Amino acid sequence: MYRSHTCGELRSSDIGRAVTLAGWVQKVRNLGAMTFIDLRDRYGITQIVVEEHSPEQTRAVAARLGREYVLQAKGRVIERSSKNPKMPTGDIEVAADELTVLNEAQTPPFTIEENSDGGDDLRMKYRYLDLRRPPLQRNLALRHRMAHAVRTFLDKEGFLEIETPYLVGSTPEGARDFVVPSRMNPNQFYALPQSPQTLKQLLMVAGYDRYFQIVRCFRDEDLRADRQPEFTQIDCEMSFVEQEDILEVFERWAKYMFHEILGIDFTEPFRRMPWIEAMERFGSDKPDLRFGMELHDVTDLAHGHSFSVFDDAEYIAGFAATGCAGYTRKQIDALTDYVKRPQVGAKGLVWIRLDEQGNIKSSIDKFFTPDELKVIADRVEAHAGDLVLLICGKKFKVLTQLCALRLHVAEALGLRDPKKFAPLWVVDFPMFEWDDETQRFYAMHHPFTSPKPEDIPFMESDPGRVRANAYDFVCNGTEIGGGSIRIHDAQLQALIFKVLGFTPERAQEQFGFLMNAFKFGAPPHGGLAFGFDRLCSLFGGSDSIRDFIAFPKNNACRDVMLDAPSALDQSQLDELYLSLVKPE
Ligand code: AMO
Repeated sequence: MYRSHTCGELRSSDIGRAVTLAGWVQKVRNLGAMTFIDLRDRYGITQIVVEEHSPEQTRAVAARLGREYVLQAKGRVIERSSKNPKMPTGDIEVAADELTVLNEAQTPPFTIEENSDGGDDLRMKYRYLDLRRPPLQRNLALRHRMAHAVRTFLDKEGFLEIETPYLVGSTPEGARDFVVPSRMNPNQFYALPQSPQTLKQLLMVAGYDRYFQIVRCFRDEDLRADRQPEFTQIDCEMSFVEQEDILEVFERWAKYMFHEILGIDFTEPFRRMPWIEAMERFGSDKPDLRFGMELHDVTDLAHGHSFSVFDDAEYIAGFAATGCAGYTRKQIDALTDYVKRPQVGAKGLVWIRLDEQGNIKSSIDKFFTPDELKVIADRVEAHAGDLVLLICGKKFKVLTQLCALRLHVAEALGLRDPKKFAPLWVVDFPMFEWDDETQRFYAMHHPFTSPKPEDIPFMESDPGRVRANAYDFVCNGTEIGGGSIRIHDAQLQALIFKVLGFTPERAQEQFGFLMNAFKFGAPPHGGLAFGFDRLCSLFGGSDSIRDFIAFPKNNACRDVMLDAPSALDQSQLDELYLSLVKPE
């Protein structure tokens, strides 16, 4: 038996017990007569003390210990003379009778403690060492508990967990596919699924009316803090349902998760916000509702004052930055620089300052009287002490730029509290999204999403106006999940493909298997998928999903620990009938 207890387990009630612990040496403090060893495993840290009168052999082992040695300690639990109330085991220590080095360790490249001194790259390279740190161990334990809660809830609701393949054809989620060459089918490739979307729809045709899967998805897209090339979805689909049925089940599920994992009870129904309202009031289809500072359209008030920047603009809007009237010129310039960054893309920023005495000052004083500025300030619900920030340009560009600024200001004001949760459903998404570059419509969700029946008449005449039976679950400014009611009618599906610019042949080639299956009795169905990594990081109070994935990729889409991707041997290439072209 290597251990009788874990390193997080012993308390005052164990005083006097003979115990055996095993773990990693986090720290050794040699105080001459006594040596203290912090022994760590995933349950916690226990202090081991080697005293002057400990056996010679034990003292000799203690003297040669290094960080991260794997150590077994046998001894007695004693009361600590100087207790540490910050540690759960801080009232006791183990007086060592016998120490055995189970394995030695090279000095690790960074400290393996609550906070590490290692940089990102180094910690990614030695991910197995970083994973020894308590915060990451807590994160992965949280992820485990969450997966367990998901399965418990959905099992009770009659959902079956069914696995679907990873070697498939192209799926319709709209990112680039990762592809895998087939040795047995020369010059042909599998695509890794961007989601099991089409497969879960086939399961509905097959009669498995409540399906779920905690499943890996693969998307070759640019990475951000909340995006990984392989990530996990809680993927769900139901038959004989309408949008309301799906929102009902998954709102209960979300509340169950908040209750089980965080002990938070939402008693009110989650807010529902139409997409256009989310865009106009928050500049985003994933609004952060933890704080106010809502956006307001001031176009009518701002036009016609001989300020050509405004007069030439289609849309002028802004918000009141709470309590920011005291911002210095330098701070305002920094905000202007922020919105002018290419990632935000605004041309400039106009400000109106309402000081505590009610005086008004503005960067557009020349064109507007104080009274006219006051009317604008009132429209954006500014109060004394606030700073009004305005941007002008094309409507949806202005809205997204203001969204970025609103979040930036909120971050600076400490309003994005990770312990506060503001969940909502965003509904009534547009069916199609116009792309200026390629001059065509794309499916905003995916091409199997059904339109609102009342909007079908505009499908060909005004596609931009058609709304979808699609919904997103959003919390704290992050899209956690999304889904839709699907089309199960072949004619309607053909019409959607037409609007999306698919020829019937191409639609058949890409999605024929699904369209053909629908000829054999497809039930009305719909579903949704939640980003499990995002849900874990939301619950864990972090912005980065990487901290909740055991072995993530870095921003360059590399696994620096495994050194992947990497080149193939010529023999492997030959077997796959592949030859390589040097990049330009
Ligand atoms: P969607 O593409 O919206 O829908 O994806 C669902 C959820 O998956 C998460 N997600 C990601 N998480 C981490 N890294 C990524 N690269 C990434 N991409 C997406 C998000 C998102 O809300 N088949 C549909 C669902 C359906 O219609 O049922 C789908 O995949 O949290």
